[in-house]
Amino acid sequence: VMTKKRNEQGHLMIGEVDAVRLAAQYHTPLYAYDVSHIREKARAFKQAFERTGIAYQVAYASKAFSCTAMVQLAQEEGLSLDVVSGGELYTARQAGFPMEKVHFNGNNKSRQEISEALTAGIGCFVVDNFQELEMLSEESRRLDSAPAILLRVTPGVEASTHDYISTGGEDSKFGFDLHNGQAQKAVEQALAIPSLKLLGLHFHIGSQLFETSALVQALATLYRYLGYWRDTYRFVPEVINVGGGFGISYTRFDQPLRPETFVETIIQAIRAESDRHHIPVPQVWIEPGRAIVGEAGTTLYTIGSQKKIENVRHYVSVDGGMTDNIRPALYGAHYDAELANRTKQQDEKTYAIAGKACESGDMLIYDLSLPAVKSGDLLAVFSTGAYGYSMASNYNRLPRPPVVFVENNEHKLVVERESYADLVRNDRSLYA
Ligand code: LLP
Repeated sequence: VMTKKRNEQGHLMIGEVDAVRLAAQYHTPLYAYDVSHIREKARAFKQAFERTGIAYQVAYASKAFSCTAMVQLAQEEGLSLDVVSGGELYTARQAGFPMEKVHFNGNNKSRQEISEALTAGIGCFVVDNFQELEMLSEESRRLDSAPAILLRVTPGVEASTHDYISTGGEDSKFGFDLHNGQAQKAVEQALAIPSLKLLGLHFHIGSQLFETSALVQALATLYRYLGYWRDTYRFVPEVINVGGGFGISYTRFDQPLRPETFVETIIQAIRAESDRHHIPVPQVWIEPGRAIVGEAGTTLYTIGSQKKIENVRHYVSVDGGMTDNIRPALYGAHYDAELANRTKQQDEKTYAIAGKACESGDMLIYDLSLPAVKSGDLLAVFSTGAYGYSMASNYNRLPRPPVVFVENNEHKLVVERESYADLVRNDRSLYA
């Protein structure tokens, strides 16, 4: 983690805006994104592809953080968009995103979602299973459309990450298994459905990856089958989508690879495998979510109550927690934080940062070194841009925080704070 920028008053800067000012204007908890950082990451992925000369798409995985403004930003940066639900698709449409650049992932798309996506004219379905293949065949005939599809395969490669976000192994709910003939059967069936255009294959082996070997291994596995399918079905893929999962830095212990390194390694492996198996080099698509938005996001909290248990722990509570960032409670994820309104000092204490939800497990950070804190101090938790807002809940009927986009010295509210009225909006009275 780089040292964070501070102004002459010692306040944390987000972009070129004082975090204390943001908190004063929008109140806390608050998600603040540095938009320049998002643009830089998007460009890093794209430019790495440009240098290889290979046809590509970088589809932003909107599950990491979806809202109208984010989708519009993805469009400004020339990204495609990966959606996984009717809701994410709807968000993309409302934002005016070009439908031909939308890819639809997911292991249990409903008939309704499929027909919405067909009607919208999305660019590609990533088909996960046989039921979906059948539904897509029926719905595309009914709606007289001819969608492009990728088949999601499971290469049986374990990525070294948290079990909950590892998806490429043998025991996975996602995709057609390569090794037991399911994938081959899916290729055969897809080729036989005249209303579907089989563009190629897709895999996603896991999230928060810190190395490339599992990706390279998955490609080698896939190509062995591609060679066979070329001989058997005369099928060669136009597209290979290797998913997302590119790791980011949450704390100083994380040493992520650069986007360029991921792209270059993937392209090198694809060129080599294509050569080895006499298959034309396909287009290469990727689906980064976290790597585009994760490090760009900072959550600002106000510190409230404290409880010191002598020789055990010094709890400090903030005005949010697991409701705006479930990742520590769900995955044991680690975060780094600093006071936004005061600089670091020589003699700091170790604090445990607790959320305000009624759960002992609602802890954001167990051991954070800070100058002596008092209530009213502002805490900035870093790298909260991915899977924070998108996994937020109303547990304890806490309204979800707003989202602010900062770019250089400008800031703009892009998601309003939920109100109490929002919380009861869908409720119906027992007596009405
Ligand atoms: N493509 C597919 C098919 C995926 O399943 C995912 C993530 C991505 C792309 C984007 O992965 P990313 O580049 O963002 O790592 N909630 C968890 C992460 C779940 C990831 C699910 N799939 C977390 O907070 O770590």
